[in-house]
Amino acid sequence: MAKIIGAVTTSHVPAIGGAIARKVEHEPYWKPFFDGFVAVREWLAEVRPDVVVVFYNDHGLNFFLDKMPTFAVGAAPEYRNADEGWGIPTVPPFTGDPALSWHVIEQLVGEDFDLTTCQEMKVDHAFTLPMALLWPDQKWPVRCVPVCINTVQFPLPSAARCYRLGEAVGRAIESFPSDARVVVLGTGGLSHQLDGQRAGFINKDFDLQFMESLVHDPKWATQYSIPELVEKTGTQGVELVMWLAARGALGATARKVHANYHIPISNTAAGLMVLEPVV
Ligand code: DHB
Ligand code: FE
Repeated sequence: MAKIIGAVTTSHVPAIGGAIARKVEHEPYWKPFFDGFVAVREWLAEVRPDVVVVFYNDHGLNFFLDKMPTFAVGAAPEYRNADEGWGIPTVPPFTGDPALSWHVIEQLVGEDFDLTTCQEMKVDHAFTLPMALLWPDQKWPVRCVPVCINTVQFPLPSAARCYRLGEAVGRAIESFPSDARVVVLGTGGLSHQLDGQRAGFINKDFDLQFMESLVHDPKWATQYSIPELVEKTGTQGVELVMWLAARGALGATARKVHANYHIPISNTAAGLMVLEPVV
């Protein structure tokens, strides 16, 4: 059966794409952020995944406000990036894994999750930039399965439900007849608010407690409703549900391999973790 060998969770600020394009990773503003990824690349070189299952939220590139699925899973042979208007270069296309996608879709629907299945799907900065941070040469050595969770238009799925979605994705991967080595990637957060009176809001105490909870008490954040998470982490801070889904996929116990936290990158608290399942 396919095997989950670890999870990477990271923020996905568009300005990262600008920094990569301008080659300013070593400048003082960016260095503490990009330096965090060196250990992740070393870990990837060791664990050598074949597939990455990516939990992320689309911000209007593939889904707009007129049609907004709560959960959408890609089942395409290829996923392309396109201009979102941030002025950052697009990245090369990603190879899909339709057989694993359909297996995950069948298992999730079998567990009563209602999904939108996407045989065509554009992937935005929330997918492409974390991939570019993991593989800076952008010659993606993995097949991809995108799992998109709505954090853009209310109502949003609860943190508890996103965790359960992750658990179900984990079970689906581990029941897929293949010897594929799978990394789950969760992108979004941590605390940030881009608009309104609290624009620029960051909550370091909450973020650090959240990161710690993923190791020893992974369901800790699921005690909070979406409005409570907005209050604690900002309107876009709710993207941290992607971290919960990725953590859920790892199973009950996990160990921390690596972590980094730096504020701010653009308006966002930039967090990064690598976790491995303990079996
Ligand atoms: C920023 C952060 C995000 O998560 C996003 O999707 C867009 C912008 C920011 O901090 O600039
Ligand atoms: Fe975002």
